[in-house]
Amino acid sequence: MAGFTSSWPAEAPCSGQVRLRAFEDRDVDMVMGLATDSHVPTIGSLPFRATHREALDDIARQRGRQAEGKGFSFCVADRSDDTALGGIGLWLTAIEQGRTTGGYGVAPSARARRVATQALDALTAFAWTLPPVHRIELYFEPWNLASIRTAETAGFTREGLLRSHQEIAGRRPAAASRAGPRECAAPRSGAMRSAHRAPLRSGAPLRVRTGCSRRRSPRPSRS
Ligand SMILES: CC(C)(COP(=O)(O)OP(=O)(O)OC[C@H]1O[C@@H](n2cnc3c(N)ncnc32)[C@H](O)[C@@H]1OP(=O)(O)O)[C@@H](O)C(=O)NCCC(=O)NCCS
Repeated sequence: MAGFTSSWPAEAPCSGQVRLRAFEDRDVDMVMGLATDSHVPTIGSLPFRATHREALDDIARQRGRQAEGKGFSFCVADRSDDTALGGIGLWLTAIEQGRTTGGYGVAPSARARRVATQALDALTAFAWTLPPVHRIELYFEPWNLASIRTAETAGFTREGLLRSHQEIAGRRPAAASRAGPRECAAPRSGAMRSAHRAPLRSGAPLRVRTGCSRRRSPRPSRS
């Protein structure tokens, strides 16, 4: 896996009504809309209620993610008129171990139209075209039913609850983890189908125990 260099997809990943492309400054209104959801700033770099300037700065940060080696940050656009609807990322910080992480957000005005589900479908198909990828992981808080349904519909499997997984807005909530391991990748519709014909490589599931969150008070001693 060493030395893997990511290249931007030659063909925009698509699914249903959405297409994944690079962010552009003209997406600023959508990004400002995304910033009105108080949860979005807790899971990314976009400030809550971002101003026009702050939204443009965030677009510039998203455009720089690939050059930094962090992964791909895509704007989710409407396939018919290219209007921006949201953002979705494929993060490569653990690519040396064959793992990637996905994350997404849809502007409030574009929700409940299957945008996230289709975007995740397109991202997943693209991820499986990258030879080192064996797992795509998603993490979200257990209350986030919309995100859980999005992951389920896109074919991700529930793997567990990770206590104190990461700091979000000054708290360390549990995160539900879902994964799409390569051995579960089923051919899906669309232009990316040929990518799934690559031979699957073996990878035994790793059993994880996550009962080791930091305790605030000492355990009572057994007598
Ligand atoms: C989560 C999010 C991306 C969903 O976007 P969306 O485009 O509205 O989702 P979809 O229209 O594709 O709907 C996906 C599923 O969630 C369900 N859903 C949507 N909103 C819901 C809600 N508020 N409560 C429960 N289920 C909901 C839909 O009915 C659909 O399920 P179905 O396939 O069984 O009908 C969007 O709510 C969002 O951006 N939230 C803030 C950021 C976030 O939480 N990101 C995820 C963390 S990684």
